[in-house]
Amino acid sequence: MPELQRLRPDHAPALLAFEQENRAYFAASVPDRGDAYFDGFEARHAALLAEQETGACHFHVLVGGDGEIFGRVNLVDVADGSADLGYRIARKAARQGLATSAVEKVCLLAASEYGLTSLRASTTQDNPGSQAVLARTGFVPAGDIELDGRPGVAYTRDLTALRARAGAVSGRRYSA
Ligand SMILES: CC(C)(COP(=O)(O)OP(=O)(O)OC[C@H]1O[C@@H](n2cnc3c(N)ncnc32)[C@H](O)[C@@H]1OP(=O)(O)O)[C@@H](O)C(=O)NCCC(=O)NCCS
Repeated sequence: MPELQRLRPDHAPALLAFEQENRAYFAASVPDRGDAYFDGFEARHAALLAEQETGACHFHVLVGGDGEIFGRVNLVDVADGSADLGYRIARKAARQGLATSAVEKVCLLAASEYGLTSLRASTTQDNPGSQAVLARTGFVPAGDIELDGRPGVAYTRDLTALRARAGAVSGRRYSA
């Protein structure tokens, strides 16, 4: 199973290949990133890593043994103990439980390493895969929304219990 790694500078070529290879596949479920994303990929990658350094976001990639990237799971807009979760998995690795296990791992990191107490997520109503992933990882519906012009659902996950468990296991103390 690919390993979940925090995004680093050297992930750039494999991440670009992942986004290019799956561009049309992803665009069927979520808005296309646009040509500018691909044209300016390296600068954007550097900017995202600089943003990650500030603690405003936490990016993760799923890396195979040969360095190939099979997915990504991101936490963005970190503030007040919460953040927005996003994820995408390569077409060729679909329905192998990758999204479910990676989201579970990122929830644990969010609670134990990043000091968060809740996460937010959202998906469109016509994305059963994403809804299944959220339901399987402890997210609960928090209301209907419009997402990119389509009917969607907002979700939340309370990390308090996970945080307490992670703290008990590691013996860590939290300042907040
Ligand atoms: C949604 C997505 C992340 C799921 O990734 P995944 O690794 O295939 O998910 P999992 O293998 O953990 O699947 C969990 C469950 O979701 C459901 N599921 C997954 N893909 C599905 C699909 N296309 N249609 C219906 N159900 C689906 C299944 O119940 C699956 O369990 P199963 O394998 O026992 O049937 C992936 O399809 C993806 O990246 N899609 C494009 C981008 C996207 O939609 N991102 C989410 C934006 S909110």
